Amino acid sequence: MEPLKDKQVSDKLYSSTPLSKKNFIHEHDLNEINERYKMFGPMDSGSFGVVYRALDTQYNVPCAIKLIRFPDQAIGDQTEIDAYLLEFRLLRDLDHPNILRLIEVFKNEEKLCLVTEICKGENLAEVLNKPENNYSEQEVAFIIWQLLLAVNYCHKHDICHRDIKLDNILLDQ
Ligand SMILES: Nc1ncnc2c1ncn2[C@@H]1O[C@H](COP(=O)(O)OP(=O)(O)O)[C@@H](O)[C@H]1O
Ligand SMILES: [Mg+2]
Repeated sequence: MEPLKDKQVSDKLYSSTPLSKKNFIHEHDLNEINERYKMFGPMDSGSFGVVYRALDTQYNVPCAIKLIRFPDQAIGDQTEIDAYLLEFRLLRDLDHPNILRLIEVFKNEEKLCLVTEICKGENLAEVLNKPENNYSEQEVAFIIWQLLLAVNYCHKHDICHRDIKLDNILLDQ
């Protein structure tokens, strides 16, 4: 059998997921983002975008906004843009205490903004880079246990993360 191309894999994963939360998270026009969210300075950045600290003014709770700018060659090319939408399409179907919760999505033809819950702690790469951070065996086991719960949940829903690494493991305190 021919191996599936990335896009086909994502379509398959997306269509086969049995959860229904996707019905409740809509894509809004990026112009509307200021009606509900106040954005502050950048917290960090990854390979796809910059993550900003923000406030959900409707409920007065802090949140995070990840801003992804589509590369020039992707603008107007739906196949390319679909690759960028994959993260949000997968995330909106997941509902697990150890997986970052997606709140809303805003986009226009150039940018995509994912509004998510905020993790107050640092990512594991930052934590392990500080010599003063000493974790007991029990604390490490607890972090790994939570990670495995999240991975197990994804696998049960036919989703493979493919980028589990220290920077992508966020601590909430
Ligand atoms: N919701 C969040 N709360 C706190 N920090 C975050 C949040 N999302 C991302 N970050 C920080 O931003 C970094 C990059 O985010 P990430 O989603 O991994 O971007 P990319 O997919 O581009 O690598 C993370 O390693 C983390 O330090
Ligand atoms: Mg990352």
